[in-house]
Amino acid sequence: MTTVTRRVAPAPEHTDAIRFPQGFTWGTATAAYQIEGAASADGRTPSIWDTYSHTAGRVRNGDTGDVATDHYHRWREDVAIMADLGVSAYRFSLSWSRVQPTGRGPAVQKGLDFYRALTDALLEKGIEPVVTLYHWDLPQDLEDAGGWPERVTTDRFADYATLAARALGDRVKTWTTLNEPWCSAFLGYGSGVHAPGRTDPVAALRAAHHLNLAHGKAVQALRAELPSHARTSITLNVHHVRALTEAAEDVDAARRIDALANRVFTGPILEGQYPQDLLQDTAGLSDWSFVQDGDVATIHQPLDFLGVNYYTPTLVSAATDEASHGSDGHGASEHSPWPGADRVAFHRPAGSTTAMGWAVDPSGLYDLLMRLTADFPTTPLMITENGAAFDDYVNPEGEVADPERIAYLHGHLSAVQRAIVAGADVRGYFLWSLLDNFEWGYGYSKRFGAVYVDYPTGRRIPKASARWYADVARTGALPD
Ligand code: NOJ
Repeated sequence: MTTVTRRVAPAPEHTDAIRFPQGFTWGTATAAYQIEGAASADGRTPSIWDTYSHTAGRVRNGDTGDVATDHYHRWREDVAIMADLGVSAYRFSLSWSRVQPTGRGPAVQKGLDFYRALTDALLEKGIEPVVTLYHWDLPQDLEDAGGWPERVTTDRFADYATLAARALGDRVKTWTTLNEPWCSAFLGYGSGVHAPGRTDPVAALRAAHHLNLAHGKAVQALRAELPSHARTSITLNVHHVRALTEAAEDVDAARRIDALANRVFTGPILEGQYPQDLLQDTAGLSDWSFVQDGDVATIHQPLDFLGVNYYTPTLVSAATDEASHGSDGHGASEHSPWPGADRVAFHRPAGSTTAMGWAVDPSGLYDLLMRLTADFPTTPLMITENGAAFDDYVNPEGEVADPERIAYLHGHLSAVQRAIVAGADVRGYFLWSLLDNFEWGYGYSKRFGAVYVDYPTGRRIPKASARWYADVARTGALPD
């Protein structure tokens, strides 16, 4: 992957082709711990997010995923909402410890039955299920045995992939191994703002490698079980890193963050090697001897597409003094999620922000898609997440008006469409999220849904953006 200083074609001012390609996938997305609830039902054992959210001071307002949106009991209603919206696909994750309690041994029938019933109901409505195996909820027993910093976890993950493929492979065609392994490794083991809340930079690097290796082993396991038409992928939160100025030290800060955010994954996964500059930048912390012979070949599996999650760009400069790190938008901690990049400062880009404090900047998505196209021209892309949190509320008419979300989606979908016209092979778009849900360290305080959830009652109220998105999905075009 080239560095951030590469120039890509500028975005065209406007284009007549407002339509998306025929067959473009229009989806919505969720994740198990964020919506399911039923945390101890039917044999499910705790994951690291159960432990973390039940630890005082970790999650805002002491929120947990114990009940969440109660999707485990309300999934029929949620499928009906999606059918009303007319989406063509639904991306969701399996709760590992619901399928295979403790992360070892045989699968649990009731866990499998839940996902089988859900996928059958989706297929019946003509909605394609897109399954993510791991969206951050490691079984706590596996964390107790060392978690992602330990190599053994990669074998547990491959076994789990095999169980899942055997149970669902006859009905699920599209599979994603990991969601945003950057967050699992660097927020989970580096800054500690995600479960399991460890703050050890070397453990974070080890976790990143083992997540890569787990991905490679899982792709092999999936391919061994699935029919040949099945598609495998990984979803990365590829950061669009920009340097604050063209000064050499700012460009170098961007290069460092690009290596730690992006190329630590795309290097081995898509190019078959770890970037040399990453190894050099982190040499003071680790000699990377946890990378064994043959690991990178295992990680470098052919993929059917790359899943891309995009919310906001990342703006960096060299730090002028050691204290001025600014916020990287990933939550407050005294510990950095960027091992070996102590002298990098983060800046909030200009312009409006969402309720997360993230800048609204669709040009970042355009530039990111064009960069990925330039760097990996043969890898199709899928936007597996894009969306925004705003302070939504139910008005006296019982409706949720969310014009800012509509504007956000319009801007970002325009950017996707412009990138397609300019040559990016983008196959689909999944709005994050179907429902308001448990936003990790922020608990229920941030609402990302196209559908409002009234938590005390569990009632679902489609927001104005849900109707807007339904029109886009139905027509395959953006309104003016
Ligand atoms: C990415 C994560 O995959 C998802 O779980 C999260 O809710 C969204 N970003 C918004 O932060």
